[in-house]
Amino acid sequence: MQEIRLFSGEMIPLERHKVRIVQKLELLPVEDRLRRLQEAHNNLYLLKNRDIFLDMLTDSGVNAMSDKQLAAMMDADDAYAGSETFFQLEEKVQDLFGMEHFLPAHQGRGCEKVLADLLIKPGDLVPMNYHFTTTRAHIVRCGGEVLELLCEGGEICTSDEPFKGNMNTTALRSLLESTQRNIPFVRMEAGANLIGGQPFSLANLQETAAICREHGVLLVLDASLLQDNLYFIKSREEACSGLSIREITRAIADCCDIIYFSARKFGFAKGGGIALRDIALANPLQELIVLNEGFLTYGGISVREMAAITVGLEESMDETIISQGPEFIRFMVDELVRLGVPVITPAGGLGCHLNAKEFVPHIAADEYPAAALASALFIAGGIRGMERGTLSEDRNADGSEKFASMELLRLAVPRRVFTLSQIKYCIDRVHWLWQNRELIQGLKFTREPKILRFFTGELAAVSDWQEKLAARFRSDFGDSL
Ligand code: F0G
Repeated sequence: MQEIRLFSGEMIPLERHKVRIVQKLELLPVEDRLRRLQEAHNNLYLLKNRDIFLDMLTDSGVNAMSDKQLAAMMDADDAYAGSETFFQLEEKVQDLFGMEHFLPAHQGRGCEKVLADLLIKPGDLVPMNYHFTTTRAHIVRCGGEVLELLCEGGEICTSDEPFKGNMNTTALRSLLESTQRNIPFVRMEAGANLIGGQPFSLANLQETAAICREHGVLLVLDASLLQDNLYFIKSREEACSGLSIREITRAIADCCDIIYFSARKFGFAKGGGIALRDIALANPLQELIVLNEGFLTYGGISVREMAAITVGLEESMDETIISQGPEFIRFMVDELVRLGVPVITPAGGLGCHLNAKEFVPHIAADEYPAAALASALFIAGGIRGMERGTLSEDRNADGSEKFASMELLRLAVPRRVFTLSQIKYCIDRVHWLWQNRELIQGLKFTREPKILRFFTGELAAVSDWQEKLAARFRSDFGDSL
């Protein structure tokens, strides 16, 4: 376990690694942060990395790599077809999941694309614990519809429920018993991203799998955030405390027909892949992989990255390694709760999530509270988070806003990247913003794309509130950055 008790009694998550390669960071003065934000049209995706101090946008593809991963990358076997490095990766996936077939894809959404192309027909319904943006976009692109059947309480921000990512199995059962719609598969997402990296329990997955089997419906697992979910099962699910991470992984895989993942998260590298048992599904998927991703022994991933994924997957079976992210996030959540800041509890994986609906309740939903809060935090600390709320939803067909049920600012904690003092700095700047929250106002679009608008859309503040916030920062912090 990661937490260590200091002589003073304080519990801290202690890094169980040492840093041997570093990247210099700049912390711009607040006036420059304001200017760079406005030049990026208040869309944090459009910022330049050099202008960011703490990049907490995502944990995707930005996790620290280990010495062993780097060593393996030097030894990769480069070939368009038949690379030895691919076979090592395939063997690792077979070993962890006990599934015979493995198809590589360039990243998670590459997997989602080919799965949707093969399995989704117009009019199909796909039940899931919760959607992810790219997942839903591919299902909808193929004419399908997503139905979220999250457990009761899953969307309640402040809670003690350890497994808020569970499937509502009662609702799933009655749907499968009664619906006339075609259901090509049921999808479970490990560490449900958009509700704050919240896990499912093994018991819930097993029950979901039993229902699917009863009704002859495939169960597909999105394992992109499996690493955190594994740690939560091990540490929160009593029946599993005696199991090793490897045993829990196998028990999860035994429930599923298809497992896909983004290796930008699961595997500490860059890439993705689909594991499955059924050759009747593997064959047509292979055709789609070759057409869309690349040949079957690389699927759009560089061989060096494949070598890194193989080692990264093995490292994901090490409890000390995978506890680092969740324990840092818990530290952050506990401190913010202590300071009275509204955050998602219990702490999930992936990052700490601020609840913008409570942080800035005075901002109207159509002025994007979480996005406004994200822009404010960049001004306050050069910290880049990610809006996960209404801005991340595209509009309804009639042009009206599709209001997200949760309005979150995600502060991702890429694995093994930040030190505890950087986390403390972030907590401090969030606290300062909380104390000055009345200054924060909304944003409006000045250019709005139709699809996945949050990536490239341009926004402006509804007033000069950002200038006022920067001025307050200067007067509170004096010369300090
Ligand atoms: N599924 C989940 C649960 C994810 O979190 C992501 C990516 C994907 C699929 C798609 O994978 O990016 O490799 O194509 N999540 C990133 C994030 C983008 O920042 O949360 P990808």
